[in-house]
Amino acid sequence: MKNKNDIIWLDSTDSTNAEAKRRISELDNLSVLSTLSQTKGRGQAGNTWSSDDSKNLLFSIVIKFGEGISQRFRAYDQFAISQIASLAVTDFLSEMGIEAKIKWPNDIYVNDRKICGILIENSLRGKWLSESIVGIGLNINQKNFDVTIHNPTSLSLETNMKEYDIHTCLEDLTIIFRKYWERYFIIEDGLNVLSRLYLSQMWRMDEMHQFRDLTSGIIFTGIIRGITDFGHLIVEDADSGTKKEFGFKEIGYLI
Ligand code: BTN
Repeated sequence: MKNKNDIIWLDSTDSTNAEAKRRISELDNLSVLSTLSQTKGRGQAGNTWSSDDSKNLLFSIVIKFGEGISQRFRAYDQFAISQIASLAVTDFLSEMGIEAKIKWPNDIYVNDRKICGILIENSLRGKWLSESIVGIGLNINQKNFDVTIHNPTSLSLETNMKEYDIHTCLEDLTIIFRKYWERYFIIEDGLNVLSRLYLSQMWRMDEMHQFRDLTSGIIFTGIIRGITDFGHLIVEDADSGTKKEFGFKEIGYLI
């Protein structure tokens, strides 16, 4: 069923990212595929994503880089997709009265609790980005989580157990995402502006915290100072003052 704003709602599927990939040839740029229930929800690094049925947002947005824009994007630019997805979610939550932050690279946190996870799968044609599937799991009405889930929260838990209509939430969030796309991917120099915005919303930015260097296993005290053009995290070692860059899965936060 296709309804307003091009959102395709499915009662159930294995994973909206997998379903979007299967239907990629029939989906237009910025189409949204959403479900009430996932049987094999996928998370980052091969993890699973679990959600009670009909409680949360589980959806994927398809980006087709050949459509609607003349500019071409390099593989190198793929971090910008994480940035628009993360900022769209923090803006949506801000409209709902919640101050959320982006835990690099693209988890969304409210204080020290995770409210949203994002899984982006990109396809390249040579050195150019051709398609991206942006999978977003945003906890809305769920109040009890499995004990194996680390520090979860939901919109309802953050707002005195209020209940939300998930269809309306998705329509609102989709509108914000599409605005980000138009604002930053279509105009020249948009990506630089986007990086500055992303930095302004980063969780634990310029604060002293403990981290684990996942390559050496060493725990150290550091301060997040920014991100590189490539999307790597820059952390200053609090003892030595030296700055180091970390890729995804090269650094862990101690929460
Ligand atoms: C993470 O590990 O934090 C990323 C979780 C991403 C979950 C969403 S739910 C909708 C989409 N479909 C999936 O199978 N995964 C993403």
